[in-house]
Amino acid sequence: MNEKCAWYIELKRQAEVITHEAAVQFWPAPEGNTSYYNFRLEHIRQVERDARRIMAVEKGDEEAVIAAVWIHDRFQPQFQGAQHGEKAGKWARQNLMAMGFPAYKIADVCQAVEMHTRRVMDIPPEATTARLLWDADHLARYGPMGFINFFMCHMARDFIGGLGDNPSFPEHRLTIRDIAPLLLDRRPALYRSDWFYFDESRRLARQRIGVQRAFFDALEDQLW
Ligand SMILES: [Fe+2]
Ligand SMILES: [Fe+2]
Repeated sequence: MNEKCAWYIELKRQAEVITHEAAVQFWPAPEGNTSYYNFRLEHIRQVERDARRIMAVEKGDEEAVIAAVWIHDRFQPQFQGAQHGEKAGKWARQNLMAMGFPAYKIADVCQAVEMHTRRVMDIPPEATTARLLWDADHLARYGPMGFINFFMCHMARDFIGGLGDNPSFPEHRLTIRDIAPLLLDRRPALYRSDWFYFDESRRLARQRIGVQRAFFDALEDQLW
């Protein structure tokens, strides 16, 4: 596939529109009907980068994986998305063909999209596209990007609006001393390098976890 594929351009355009409409609720720009951040779009872009990194070593069907990347979260445009994997699979089944996407690959894309919300290590070995999407989707949350999104999501309007009632922020503002423990809390629970299907995903996860540990340790050392 190349960058000029009609279905690729259209899937990206739709994802940008859908996520932007939701982003305006959370990060409204001071002027105009726009947003100053779009968490979900940044996530999807990172999932594409990570899918390509993993496929560069592990191979896989590039067209099926990249289509699945741009479809998988379209029913979770920012933070809400009940059954968004199933909904996205249904959407792909009904719409991908008309976009000029190869018909014989559609079932593979739908399966990947539907399985991306599965729990850890729950996807069968023959579902390669689904495993690649799952790995990329989870790997995308690791490393420095995870920190940036953590902070940007804590600056969203709904979160800032609730600061007055949030006992974690007694000064009713985002102080580093109050927000750092929330970040440090994520250290043990969220990041595991064995929760991936492919060797290259595990290698990238280990690398990013190393960076996170160094960051957490330095932050702790600097503040306490
Ligand atoms: Fe998702
Ligand atoms: Fe995702």
